[in-house]
Amino acid sequence: MAETKKRISTLDPVWDRITREGEEAIAAEPLLGGLVHSSLLHHPTLERALAYRMSLKLASGEMSEQILREIGDEAYAADPELGAAARADLVATFDRDPACHRFLQPILFFKGYQAIQAYRIGNWLWRQGRRDFAYFVQMRVSETFGVDIHPAARIGRGVMIDHAHSIVIGETAVVGNDVSMLHSVTLGGTGKEDGDRHPKVGNGVLIGAGAKILGNITIGDCSRVAAGSVVLEPVAPKLTVAGVPARVVGEVNCPQPSVSMDHMLADPSSE
Ligand SMILES: CC(C)(COP(=O)(O)OP(=O)(O)OC[C@H]1O[C@@H](n2cnc3c(N)ncnc32)[C@H](O)[C@@H]1OP(=O)(O)O)[C@@H](O)C(=O)NCCC(=O)NCCS
Repeated sequence: MAETKKRISTLDPVWDRITREGEEAIAAEPLLGGLVHSSLLHHPTLERALAYRMSLKLASGEMSEQILREIGDEAYAADPELGAAARADLVATFDRDPACHRFLQPILFFKGYQAIQAYRIGNWLWRQGRRDFAYFVQMRVSETFGVDIHPAARIGRGVMIDHAHSIVIGETAVVGNDVSMLHSVTLGGTGKEDGDRHPKVGNGVLIGAGAKILGNITIGDCSRVAAGSVVLEPVAPKLTVAGVPARVVGEVNCPQPSVSMDHMLADPSSE
């Protein structure tokens, strides 16, 4: 009987866990062996696996997998922050998305996670002055995942985009660390301003499905924006806003609503 070759642990606990989960996934469903091997187990690091996965997703008749894979490998090698952010986003998704039970799910199956990692490569290209390639990545991410993030937008670490249909994040938008957003969120301009015209979202903010945050306004740290809101005015830290146009409906009573995914309004009787 052929002996299964045991993988040697690396010094990267996230990657070790992903490869262990990959082996378990193949044992449970051998028909997924090709996918799991080519996407995960065949690679020495998370960065190499992500570069491969992104190239496969973003390639088209006009851009080969090989070129995109070279770009991904180059970006991850040049900027270690990309790999660190990919790990933080992975842990964020695992911690906050109740439908995420293993680290391998976002890499293999969640388009929100995949779209953010592809955006990060496009943003690296943008910062190198390789703007047309960055626009190409933006276009393919939008076509493939329905997530349209301008490559100049700045997005922190530990970010989760759940479901990720129809996300729009404009050129001068800033998203802090540990932010969670659900599908159909727009961080856009009002259409009345030029230049620096998009929202600045603080750390630990939770943005509900369908929320539209418009204009160069600040959403304070650890605030919450209710689903379906249209936010046109700045929001101070640790507040909950809701409605069209949005108004303050409560205070946030947990340290980081984006992390706890706390969707509850504070109970006034408990204050
Ligand atoms: C409607 C819009 C063009 C502003 O028009 P405006 O006539 O200059 O409006 P103002 O900003 O002066 O606001 C007028 C009132 O309408 C409200 N308002 C503005 N935009 C609104 C919106 N989208 N939904 C609901 N109410 C809105 C304002 O709160 C304000 O209410 P108030 O008078 O009670 O304070 C702009 O807010 C908008 O929605 N633009 C679309 C931007 C967009 O789609 N961006 C996405 C880019 S990706």
